[in-house]
Amino acid sequence: MHWNKVLFYVLCAVKFSDLAIAGVSAHTNKVFDVSLKEDNSIRLYWQLDYSSETVTFEVHIPAGYGWFALGFSDRGDPFPADYCVLWENVNGIVSFDDAYADNRGVLHLDKQQDCRKFKIKTSSNFVKYTYRRKFDTCDNNDYVVEDGTTHIVWSRGKHKLYQLNGLNVSSSTQDIGMVRVHLLKNTHVEAALPKYVRNLDIVTNKVKVPNVETTYWCHVFKLPDEFSKKHHIYQYESHIQDNSRGVVHHMEVFHCETGTKEEIPLYIGDCFAKDRPPKTQVCKRVLAAWAMGAPPFTYPEEASLPIGGENFNPYIMLEIHYNNPELRSDIVDSSGIRFHVSSKLKKMDAGVIELGLEYTDKMAIPPGQEQFRLTGYCTSVCTSMGLPSEGITIFGSQLHTHLTGARVVTRHFDAYGKELPELNRDNHYSTHFQEIRRLKKPVKVLPGHVLITRCDYNTEDRPNITMGGFSISDEMCVNYIHYFPHTELEVCKSSISDQALKTYFQYMNEWEGQSTSPSKGVSDNYKAIQWNKIRVQLLQEVYQEALLSMQCNMSSGDRFPGYWENAQIPPVLLPLPPPVRKCEHIAQNDYL
Ligand SMILES: *[C@@H]1O[C@H](CO)[C@@H](O)[C@H](O)[C@H]1NC(C)=O
Ligand SMILES: *[C@@H]1O[C@H](CO)[C@@H](O)[C@H](O)[C@H]1NC(C)=O
Ligand SMILES: *[C@@H]1O[C@H](CO)[C@@H](O)[C@H](O)[C@H]1NC(C)=O
Repeated sequence: MHWNKVLFYVLCAVKFSDLAIAGVSAHTNKVFDVSLKEDNSIRLYWQLDYSSETVTFEVHIPAGYGWFALGFSDRGDPFPADYCVLWENVNGIVSFDDAYADNRGVLHLDKQQDCRKFKIKTSSNFVKYTYRRKFDTCDNNDYVVEDGTTHIVWSRGKHKLYQLNGLNVSSSTQDIGMVRVHLLKNTHVEAALPKYVRNLDIVTNKVKVPNVETTYWCHVFKLPDEFSKKHHIYQYESHIQDNSRGVVHHMEVFHCETGTKEEIPLYIGDCFAKDRPPKTQVCKRVLAAWAMGAPPFTYPEEASLPIGGENFNPYIMLEIHYNNPELRSDIVDSSGIRFHVSSKLKKMDAGVIELGLEYTDKMAIPPGQEQFRLTGYCTSVCTSMGLPSEGITIFGSQLHTHLTGARVVTRHFDAYGKELPELNRDNHYSTHFQEIRRLKKPVKVLPGHVLITRCDYNTEDRPNITMGGFSISDEMCVNYIHYFPHTELEVCKSSISDQALKTYFQYMNEWEGQSTSPSKGVSDNYKAIQWNKIRVQLLQEVYQEALLSMQCNMSSGDRFPGYWENAQIPPVLLPLPPPVRKCEHIAQNDYL
């Protein structure tokens, strides 16, 4: 959407310069947008200014509101949360205030007002308003907008208010919503494509969206014949029909990575249906990932992900997650992903390396934990074996866990244990919001460097232990990094060494009286442990100190030659100092 079309519409009443952010450059005038309600009746537009660390919002809501609160919360709950509230008093006077909802849902005006530069325009059908807010307002009652996932929460009421203080934000339980967005997007991605690039639409065909809350829809395609020749993906983007905007929650396109001649059934249907052909289970190597609010993903000038070619099985699968909380039965959808491809190749192929934890039950998360941490290592020895001497350049990253993942970070170290800037971090991670994101700064990784991927899980609502593994109820800790030039290294992950785990189970039996035993399998041993605070603490410490079993694999699926058992955990000799807030009145440890 274009700035002029969106913001100017509202601002024709005010002078343009009143709103334009100081120092707007050609790069920063991009406008992003997301639908806040499934029926698309409430929309949010925003524009970023990284030099002043502010975001300008424009909100479109239907006329006839009494109050409308829009804000942020840590994980998407309506409270506690930080809001900017538009409201009308009983005399018809419109106000716009910075407030927070406490942990009972009750609003309080903030002493420090940070919802700035408010402007409003109303028509008979619509209300449009804009305001500006700093990423970090230096007010402890406000949310700090960070890179990664942001949970936007809203609610509204029809009635005019006597005053704002004391209002329960979630009192009108139907008129309340939450969307996840990557608010602090990369504004430096040049989206212009060369003329010779053409479209490849991988879209489903008139799906009658089931009237249930959650549907995963799978659709297998065979690539057209011309893809027997290798192509490059220059860009991809969502292709969503207007009437299903808001219901299409996220989409992925997978390559069915198997023998070139292998035929895959052209299955169309629920991904979890019993009659889904088992052969389609090989369709799991990610080619594209889109989530609500994500802009087109554009490959860098130097390199692109290949699609097609002699050794490329021609089948791919589209997976669409429909989110239909209103249980509508009138939606017929033909959405999907539009690839922009060409057989004219760029200089290099891009590739994907998996960092993090091996998919194995050797790592597990005890039940009832507010926070438990698992860490996967890509060691110096593996990057020395796997990367070319001039290194690789990482330009994108997709973080991945299953349902209990809450925070993911990949830290980067040189060969001497000195920490370099973090590769990627999401402090508000949600499995329901996965996209491949372009890094704001490409990262060079050289042979000998170390990448440490750490995931924090919340298992408070799980009665049983959660195992590492493939199933959605199991857990993963992965960062798929997108980089060039393509190398042989495809997997650089770890788990606890077999020996260390054996010793741990033996200890639990001998010293803690647990019914762990060498005759049981790994999962059964974990399940045999009665978890208490001290045992959880001990497991956390064992994971932090035990030797590793490394998976340093090539794209052929074989390991790089070497002995990968009982590797040392890479030492962190010189960590980065914690980030500093640019706030005068806030003690830094309030934040850390
Ligand atoms: C506010 O409303 C929510 C949802 O109806 C409710 O759970 C909460 O207890 C209410 N808070 C107060 C203080 O009444
Ligand atoms: C937890 O484990 C018990 C005993 O194995 C089992 O009966 C129960 O179904 C499990 N609960 C969940 C939610 O998996
Ligand atoms: C790595 O290679 C080994 C040996 O071929 C294999 O057993 C293992 O499953 C591979 N790991 C991954 C994550 O592909």
